Amino acid sequence: MQDELTTIAGHTQLSSVDGLAGRLAIRGYPIEELAGRVAYEEAAYLLWHGELPDAPALSAFAGALASRRALHPASLELLRACAAERVAPMDAIGMAAGTLGLGLAPDDAPMTLVARFPTLVAAYWRLLNGHDPIAPRADLGHTANYLYMLDGQLPNAGRVKAVETYLVTLIDHGISASTFAARVIISTQSDVIAAVAGAIGALKGPLHGGAPGPTLRMVLEIGSPDRVEFCLRDRLARGERLMGFGHRDYKVRDPRCGVLAAAAEAVYQAEGDMATYALARQVEEVAVRLLAEHKPGRRLCANVEFYASLLMHGAGLPAELFTPTFAVARAAGWVAHCLEQQRANRMLQPQTVYTGPLGRRWVPIEQRLPKAG
Ligand code: ACO
Repeated sequence: MQDELTTIAGHTQLSSVDGLAGRLAIRGYPIEELAGRVAYEEAAYLLWHGELPDAPALSAFAGALASRRALHPASLELLRACAAERVAPMDAIGMAAGTLGLGLAPDDAPMTLVARFPTLVAAYWRLLNGHDPIAPRADLGHTANYLYMLDGQLPNAGRVKAVETYLVTLIDHGISASTFAARVIISTQSDVIAAVAGAIGALKGPLHGGAPGPTLRMVLEIGSPDRVEFCLRDRLARGERLMGFGHRDYKVRDPRCGVLAAAAEAVYQAEGDMATYALARQVEEVAVRLLAEHKPGRRLCANVEFYASLLMHGAGLPAELFTPTFAVARAAGWVAHCLEQQRANRMLQPQTVYTGPLGRRWVPIEQRLPKAG
């Protein structure tokens, strides 16, 4: 979707986003073809190699990831220091991301970074909550192992499927703000670890990856169907944004909403809590109507975070882990973009249109006019 504020940052063969038609495809596969059907490892392989793997290729790729999951002791030391200072999860993960390449040959960084990322998030979550980290298990898939490292319980198949659907759905999305940050960094001939550390910084902001926590809070605070319209109107009247709505690319419903809503429905059905799911559906319906009144012509619809937050909540992930889990999902996408940028690199250096004054003259400090206030 292009408007007067859109800048074309480059070309990619990884994922395509059609904001007017509401379509997202990964390497040409509509997201609806992949989500709920492929494991995270398969989706990562597809992104990196351009084709879905056959069984031996998948087994080799998944095995290579599984064997690289353990963190370097220095990463754990840093996480312990962050937990002692009660550093927020995305800040600690951003700091520790810089250590993910410790002890590696540079060629091994892409695979190891993706393999270690869930271990980093789970270890920090446990340390922050006063528990020792749980060592990764090489016999579990990427998603099941992530969930296992959070609480030491083997997750049931429904929970793994729900979270895997989320991770696959979020694996890549054109040149989003965080992906752009990664590509800018790698384009200076910096390295993959530095690029991903930069991407994490871009992801944590509430306008990008930081939205799902506030989105869930908004739905839970509304609490019951009779309060939906009143609460949403009140929020808009106070000049606040409705979290989980609006998108820079999509002018229709974000296509990821469909797959995530279906996965969320299955989770809430299994938990016997259809009230929360039904409330969210109603919030979406009313919010879209009120946003059309509030910002006519803007075409503000539900974005990925609306159903992502609902799905993760239903799958038992605490809200503090929503953005870190988004980073777990996007790690393979960020790396894929770094590799693509490296293959045909030209430094990304956009220009600005200068709008300030010109031709000013230096004045000695004693002659400068006092500043008001
Ligand atoms: N609620 C109320 N008003 C909104 C919303 C919203 N959710 N989204 C946009 N608007 C309004 C803005 O106030 C603005 O109005 P104005 O032109 O009168 O000032 C207009 O619509 C356009 O808003 P922009 O911020 O310029 O649009 P942009 O395309 O840059 O915004 C964004 C996209 C940042 C996602 C925005 O829709 C938003 O803040 N949404 C809420 C936060 C959110 O859900 N973020 C997750 C995005 S998905 C992702 O990053 C993975």
